[in-house]
Amino acid sequence: MKRINSVAVSHEEATRQKAIIKRLKHRLEEKQLTYYITTFGCQMNAHDSEMIKGILEDIGYREASQELEADFVIYNTCAVRENAEQRVYGRIGHLKSIKRKKPDMMIALCGCMMQQPTVIQELKKKHKHIDLVFGTHNLYKLAELLETRLDSGSTVYDIWEAHKEIVEDLPSIRKHKFKASVNIMYGCNNFCTYCIVPYVRGRERSRHPEDILKEVRDLVVDGVVEIVLLGQNVNSYGTGLDMPMTFAELIQEVEKIDGLRRIRFMTPHPKDLSDDLIEVMADSQKICHHVHLPIQSGSSRLLKAMNRHYTKESYLDLVKRIKARIPEVAITTDIIIGFPTETEADNDDTIDVIHQVEYNTAYTFIYSKRTGTPAANMEDQVPEAIVKERFNKILEAMDIVSLKNSEKHVGNTYELLVEEVNHKKADWVSGRLKDNHLVHIQGDESLIGTFVNVKITGSKTYYLVGEII
Ligand code: 5AD
Ligand code: SF4
Repeated sequence: MKRINSVAVSHEEATRQKAIIKRLKHRLEEKQLTYYITTFGCQMNAHDSEMIKGILEDIGYREASQELEADFVIYNTCAVRENAEQRVYGRIGHLKSIKRKKPDMMIALCGCMMQQPTVIQELKKKHKHIDLVFGTHNLYKLAELLETRLDSGSTVYDIWEAHKEIVEDLPSIRKHKFKASVNIMYGCNNFCTYCIVPYVRGRERSRHPEDILKEVRDLVVDGVVEIVLLGQNVNSYGTGLDMPMTFAELIQEVEKIDGLRRIRFMTPHPKDLSDDLIEVMADSQKICHHVHLPIQSGSSRLLKAMNRHYTKESYLDLVKRIKARIPEVAITTDIIIGFPTETEADNDDTIDVIHQVEYNTAYTFIYSKRTGTPAANMEDQVPEAIVKERFNKILEAMDIVSLKNSEKHVGNTYELLVEEVNHKKADWVSGRLKDNHLVHIQGDESLIGTFVNVKITGSKTYYLVGEII
């Protein structure tokens, strides 16, 4: 075992879990079971679901095309906003009657929502038809928990308050053959006052660089050309490692891997995006010139109340430095509307930042009160009708700057990584530019996973149209 940030990396545990997977495979083989997983929330959860799929498929489960047909239904949940939680409760409620008719159907709940004691109390009281409940720290134990459930015949609850170990090398099934996400760290130490993540994902823990690099190398051998390095705050990568390493240093090591064509990362915190990283990005052939830089609010007063550790001015200065070194960079963001005490003037500050930065896209969220966070106890929560009005103003501003950004691409040529068949037209495909812009071109599925040079012929607010040259 190697120790990282006082968390052990256990390859032995992975070996133990793989033995359980093998045992279950023998035990369940003849049943030809199927699973259906629904993932709520962020890329981190999507990545966790890839491991859940990998484990289940190694046991012998196959993916069902519909939830109601599946023998095993899994919800990987999100706790960031209340409406995602309500959707989960709604769906669990619906499954109760289904399970009465199909008593062998297995239901598992996992992910961030399960790390909240109030949720567990509610499940124990009102939702006794659930079979397996586990959290964010122990999903590598899925096979073991499933075996316990099968042996005991009663609901298994296994929620850990903190990470005990990082388990490497477990099976995983990714959505695209040519692109993959790689966790570089887990957890968050920032405690933004509105956010539940530090409470449900625990303290920051970085993976060892050698493990990250090995994973990326293996992925490249398996056909991956684009990777996304994931962490709640990638800029603080490496603190606490036996041999501390910065994110800028790590990404340079990743860049050296032959065969890898594109590197993305999510999410940097504006308070500590270093000039070193900007330099590395500017000089790199592989790191995509796209920075997702969540602002949350343009008001320095609210940023302080949110515990974000930057001001409107310092954020704008950072953007200026990034744009000076990487002129064609695309900047995207997250915005929260309706944080307690927010005024019209605060919202105007956010709109001002939108116009100054000219974001490519923004993920806009209505503030959701999360019990246990400091903001939940703040006075002056903003009335819903006012929040909606402000939300619409933000969207209007975003539409203007996004269109402007899209239009700048028209007439230029770029390298496009084709990702999938277009959702609306079967003889079109869609892909992403290095700056993350979505582009639709005429073509068939043989192009998926390949790079093509395209000329941009048209632009809409949130996508571009091009043709192969
Ligand atoms: N309410 C609304 N949005 C939130 N986010 C995090 N917590 C909340 C909350 N309580 C948003 C932030 C963050 C993104 C992942 O989710 O904008 O960047
Ligand atoms: Fe939440 Fe802030 Fe951590 Fe992001 S940096 S996960 S918003 S606490």
